Amino acid sequence: MPDPIQTQRLEPTPEGIARAAAILQAGGRVAFPTETVYGLGADSASGQAVASIYEAKDRPAFNPLIVHLPDADAARRLVEWTNEAETLASAFWPGPLTLVLPLRPGHGIASVTTAGLPTLGIRVPAHPLAQALLREAGLPVAAPSANPSGRISATTADHVMEGLSTRIEAVLDGGPSEVGLESTIVGLADTPTLLRPGGLPAEAIAAALGHHLARRNAAAPVTAPGQTASHYAPDAVLRLNATETRPGERLLGFGPMPCDLNLSPAGDLREAAANLFGHLHRLDAAPGPIAVAPIPDRGLGAAINDRLARAAAPRG
Ligand code: TXA
Ligand code: MG
Repeated sequence: MPDPIQTQRLEPTPEGIARAAAILQAGGRVAFPTETVYGLGADSASGQAVASIYEAKDRPAFNPLIVHLPDADAARRLVEWTNEAETLASAFWPGPLTLVLPLRPGHGIASVTTAGLPTLGIRVPAHPLAQALLREAGLPVAAPSANPSGRISATTADHVMEGLSTRIEAVLDGGPSEVGLESTIVGLADTPTLLRPGGLPAEAIAAALGHHLARRNAAAPVTAPGQTASHYAPDAVLRLNATETRPGERLLGFGPMPCDLNLSPAGDLREAAANLFGHLHRLDAAPGPIAVAPIPDRGLGAAINDRLARAAAPRG
């Protein structure tokens, strides 16, 4: 266990951004806001800096990290670009989409960043503070979600502090994340494949490509840990698709209904996605089981149900 350090909370000002960029350039860790969830960033070219992310999160070392870049030009310098990558990047970047592509020779990314894989997950986030930080730092920034490994992703600077205070150098406070779910991950190294549902609905990606995405074969080896069953785990026991509450349960609702907290009283999936992790954090702060109302499995609902299923899975 490394010595505790004081975690600085940085304001969303030019000074805060400059300080955050300087910490990244010096090999330190900065949690920063993106439109999906907060990321825990470090210089992806520095093996030591990236290793210190794994250390802060207690993350198993075989998990590859997503590298964050300010624009598609920066991405083209790191990976073998394809027509599909061009189509998806021009349709959805900046935004909640990660593309996995083969690394180019001379890429300079530390092997610990990719966990030794010959491919790289890349994303151009839309959040203005993430954009400003990436441009000012001038580095490809490796960033997993800014939560201890196996816990709920952070969608506010307070969540980051709850989970990682004394373990990272700083958090840049940009308010709540708008999308609230991690990015959708599409593998483009072979047949375009949905590797993780997320903040960009798979239907929108299929429409841009003009064909459906292949789904990852459930029997295939796990190359992305978001794919292991128990991953986004609150402390509380979760019961899904609940149509009634049992004694002692608190109800996380969806649509008009009496409940303890509602993901979206209006039944809006975008609002529900944005509220998901924050509401789970709030319910998890008190003891006792949580029942979750049924969520329709279309559009963003597919990603919400994916995260809920992992949160409810028996702990591995
Ligand atoms: O929205 C997001 O994607 C957030 C923000 C911070 O950008 N990041 C995020 O990172 O969710 P993380 O580390 O919690 O999840 C990244 C996922 C992992 O499941 C990882 O295995 C997968 O991306 N991944 C990264 N590189 C990959 C690669 N080369 N091949 C397959 N999967 C990869
Ligand atoms: Mg994560």
